[in-house]
Amino acid sequence: VRVGVLISGRGSNLEALADYKRKADPAYDIVLVASNVPEARGLVLACRFGLPVWAHSHKGMSRADFDDLVDAEFRRHDVEVIALAGYMRLLSPEFIVKWEGRILNIHPSLLPDYKGLDTHRRALMAGEEYAGCSVHVVTEELDDGPIIAQAKVRIAARDTAETLAERVLTEEHRLYPAALDAYCRKLRQFPLPFRGEG
Ligand code: GRF
Repeated sequence: VRVGVLISGRGSNLEALADYKRKADPAYDIVLVASNVPEARGLVLACRFGLPVWAHSHKGMSRADFDDLVDAEFRRHDVEVIALAGYMRLLSPEFIVKWEGRILNIHPSLLPDYKGLDTHRRALMAGEEYAGCSVHVVTEELDDGPIIAQAKVRIAARDTAETLAERVLTEEHRLYPAALDAYCRKLRQFPLPFRGEG
């Protein structure tokens, strides 16, 4: 299954996906790494893995126009599934409808708790026993949509948002490749019609 990865920054999840592709035999192929931040470190990592990259700043463009560019680029590369990996921008509803059932995201909380930003600090403040991460299918609502995989991390008394983020991130790197692989296998078995064809 041809996967396009969308990033905005560090790209450690992209690295985990690319690493897994090298070591295991997943059902996905990363055919394009795209970013709305041309200076994102993740693009450098992508190049190191020999992956094709595309970057275009969203500044000065409407969300719909920018998403059209991304859409066209993914189609040009025959992308079938999109993996958001630290993509720090909301996607337009039109884009999400076109790619319905084909966009996955990883979020650093045990969804449906702590949608949005600053998840670890909020979980600590609430005195939670567990934090974690979730992979879900992207729908129009932020960090909503069917959850396909989760990993839990126990919160320790000495944890800060930083130490917790670090442990959760290690779990993200384990969870995302396996979840993407499983999702792609499922898609192969039960193909989805392409909503935005033509
Ligand atoms: C991760 O914590 C991910 O869960 C969230 O954004 C962060 C991206 O990190 N969506 P990286 O760019 O993959 O290192």
